[in-house]
Amino acid sequence: MAPLPGARLTVRPGRPLAGTFIPPGDKSITHRAYLLGLLARGDTVVENANPGADCEATLACAQSLGARVARRDGAVAIEGCDMQLREPDRVLDCGNSGTTLRLLAGPLAAQDFFSVLTGDASLRRRPVARVVEPLRRMGAQLWARDGDRLPPLAIRGAALRAIECALPVASAQVASCVLLAGLFAAGRTVVHLPAPVRDHTERMLRAFGVPVVATAGHPDHPGGRGPAIAVEGPARPTGARLRIPGDFSAAAFFLAAAAATPGATVTARDVNLNPTRAGLLAVLERMGARVERSRLRDEGGEPVGDVTVTGPVHLEGCDIDPAEVPTLIDEVPAWVVAASAARGTSRIRGAAELRVKESDRLALLAANLARLGVAVEETLDGLAVTGGPVGGGVVEADDDHRIAMAFAVLGARASGPVTVAGAGGIPTSYPGFGETLAALGGDIEGAETVRVP
Ligand code: S3P
Repeated sequence: MAPLPGARLTVRPGRPLAGTFIPPGDKSITHRAYLLGLLARGDTVVENANPGADCEATLACAQSLGARVARRDGAVAIEGCDMQLREPDRVLDCGNSGTTLRLLAGPLAAQDFFSVLTGDASLRRRPVARVVEPLRRMGAQLWARDGDRLPPLAIRGAALRAIECALPVASAQVASCVLLAGLFAAGRTVVHLPAPVRDHTERMLRAFGVPVVATAGHPDHPGGRGPAIAVEGPARPTGARLRIPGDFSAAAFFLAAAAATPGATVTARDVNLNPTRAGLLAVLERMGARVERSRLRDEGGEPVGDVTVTGPVHLEGCDIDPAEVPTLIDEVPAWVVAASAARGTSRIRGAAELRVKESDRLALLAANLARLGVAVEETLDGLAVTGGPVGGGVVEADDDHRIAMAFAVLGARASGPVTVAGAGGIPTSYPGFGETLAALGGDIEGAETVRVP
């Protein structure tokens, strides 16, 4: 599904957000559950799957590749293909989802058939050379538009060889792509990362019975200071029963909005607290917000709990170092909401990857903050945001879900109504976002325009 055309919503200033909410199932983890369900031998049952369009795109691709899918009692049941995918008779449409396209490329590189991955206009502007290069080294043939840089991505699979590779970017999508391809290759496939990134693929492979070894990277290795992750192929995942924890990236908008408003208190329940994802919490604490974690437990190999954030009287500006960026890469739009309320100037550096997300997020965040009267400076790889009053106005989210949700919650503490145009990307990850904002006390109009009919 492409983002909904013409969707816009308006949020009026109101009382501080307050209350408890349950975010949708985690998007990153749901993608992996569907993909391993497709590859596995036997049945997989996924409870609390993310209901957004991105994960639905992954599920539809899995069906085109031979998985049998049924919905039972709110769960998704997948009968896997035991590593033998079926040649799809059409192009695989990944919609708006980079994770679908890049992760699927790995298993497709090992199939003795031809396939084409593509998506909407935003996805067709996002880089794929980063997966083309290692998969070619493993022995597959791949072609992409614009000198092998952009989708559509065509793949003619082959019998793969195991490789050891050092990734130039700290990308979980690329690491996961290579590890999933490595399941099909005889021998040890090793991925060195320049920094630690979300490790959901490793955790989920273990839940499907595939051993994964992660070691601290060697300081002299060109792959940098991140971990080295290894799988031994050929390996066959076995179907599993999983409950997907709540999506921290979805919860982050309300948690950051609470931090930005003195006296606001918001609790996210049953949310994933994997340290490779939840870096925003440490940053909010550094800024002076009260962050309480409770009911901490392990579910299906992932840390889960409740988080309450309370806005202090004065939030302090803070700097985010390049090393911290991968732990909050998707939360930068939410962090900007807090930074705009903090004393002094807050800075983020080493975040150039934000320019190749669903939009150029650095450019769009800077342009929209300026429209609302917030002092902001855009650099090549970051932002400097000076806290102060936020005015009303119209911003443009350009169909990027996270930009739309950030400016919607910012509207709750602006001095006038904030209208978010181009808000139709929200249902890619959080179809119930508008309802949650209203339930926490937000005065939102137009939520129906971001709901899938
Ligand atoms: C994701 C990894 C990140 C993140 C994206 C989801 C994943 O992308 O920004 O939203 O599920 O693996 P990169 O791997 O490109 O950094």
